[in-house]
Amino acid sequence: MGTLSTLFSPPPTATSTQIISPQTLSFSFPKSANNNTPTTTNHHHRSRRIQSYKFEIMADSIEEAPRRRTTTTGWAARDSSGVLSPYTYTLRKTGTEDVLIKVLFCGVCHTDLFNVKNHFGITRYPAVPGFVVKIPEGMVLEQAAPLLCAGVTVYSPLSHFGLNKSGVRGGILGLGGVGHMGVKIAKAMGHHVTVISSSDKKKVEAMEHLGADEYLVSSDATRVQEAADSLDYILDTVPAFHPLEPYLSLLGFGGKLILIGASNAPLQFVSPMLLLGRRSIIGSFIGSMKEAEEMLEFCKEKGLSSMIEVIKMDYINTAFQRLENNDVKYRFVVDVAGSELQHQ
Ligand SMILES: NC(=O)c1ccc[n+]([C@@H]2O[C@H](COP(=O)([O-])OP(=O)(O)OC[C@H]3O[C@@H](n4cnc5c(N)ncnc54)[C@H](OP(=O)(O)O)[C@@H]3O)[C@@H](O)[C@H]2O)c1
Repeated sequence: MGTLSTLFSPPPTATSTQIISPQTLSFSFPKSANNNTPTTTNHHHRSRRIQSYKFEIMADSIEEAPRRRTTTTGWAARDSSGVLSPYTYTLRKTGTEDVLIKVLFCGVCHTDLFNVKNHFGITRYPAVPGFVVKIPEGMVLEQAAPLLCAGVTVYSPLSHFGLNKSGVRGGILGLGGVGHMGVKIAKAMGHHVTVISSSDKKKVEAMEHLGADEYLVSSDATRVQEAADSLDYILDTVPAFHPLEPYLSLLGFGGKLILIGASNAPLQFVSPMLLLGRRSIIGSFIGSMKEAEEMLEFCKEKGLSSMIEVIKMDYINTAFQRLENNDVKYRFVVDVAGSELQHQ
């Protein structure tokens, strides 16, 4: 699923909530969500709970799930080349607290790329990247998949820092998968939105299709200087080293540079850039389940969806390459169900 953009390693190291593949996964409800769930094998009961939690990924073979071990096929990276290929393994035997579900669509985030290539030094191989989705009725599944990653990643800090109100002036640094949802969500909150991009290649689309109010090319020093002190926040989605001073200079008094993009190289700034103007640099990581649910309702109410390119699983290595080359508008979504993984 396009949710946590988290990479899970398959058994034997996975825990009960981590057994996952793009095709099927089994999981246990977290305790907080599970208070009323019977600990019996009443599968109809559990099926209703799935619907009440708005899982669009429907239970697969719920009647049979608890007693059998299931062989499933995911696409796994075996080493830091990050190349994915079919990988068949056996899910652990599901218990009375488990539900076996089928994953239909899976968003592809830059974090997945970092993970399969072990950029953060924490990946365990073989590694099957993927995530889980809960979606309100009426949303198009493939368009909703990236919301659970990109959508909540931008909604959470805007909500948490009290920026979810109209009249705020925001900047979106890096117009990729997360950034394009940043523009849409910020605009829907009533913000004046400036896209800050590394080139002018995405200008027309940013202004005409995503609805941005202004577009700054980060290397255009004159325009950047003209825009000094003009923003209340910047969502920084750049997935690489970049100096922070030019962007800090765009923030007004009390402005926040909210780091979302992950870099494994130290970022740089000189402290007066924060002291003068009481600016701050803050990090934010995805969001809570409550924020994810709020975000989905918000997107549904405002009619927001992500801009996607749907692919089959056998295109994933090319997709990663294109993601690395900044060549996707704006999110790849893997049609997992349509990829017939079990036959590979
Ligand atoms: N904090 C979280 O919870 C969270 C959640 C999801 C993703 N992430 C992270 O957020 C980052 C963005 O993810 P994504 O999926 O949106 O990636 P993406 O689709 O590749 O978009 C990143 C954008 O940043 C810009 N960019 C790329 N390389 C750059 C460079 N070297 N220098 C300057 N700008 C560059 C490009 O936009 P322009 O063409 O406009 O310059 C690119 O489209 C990644 O680091 C990812 O790991 C974090």
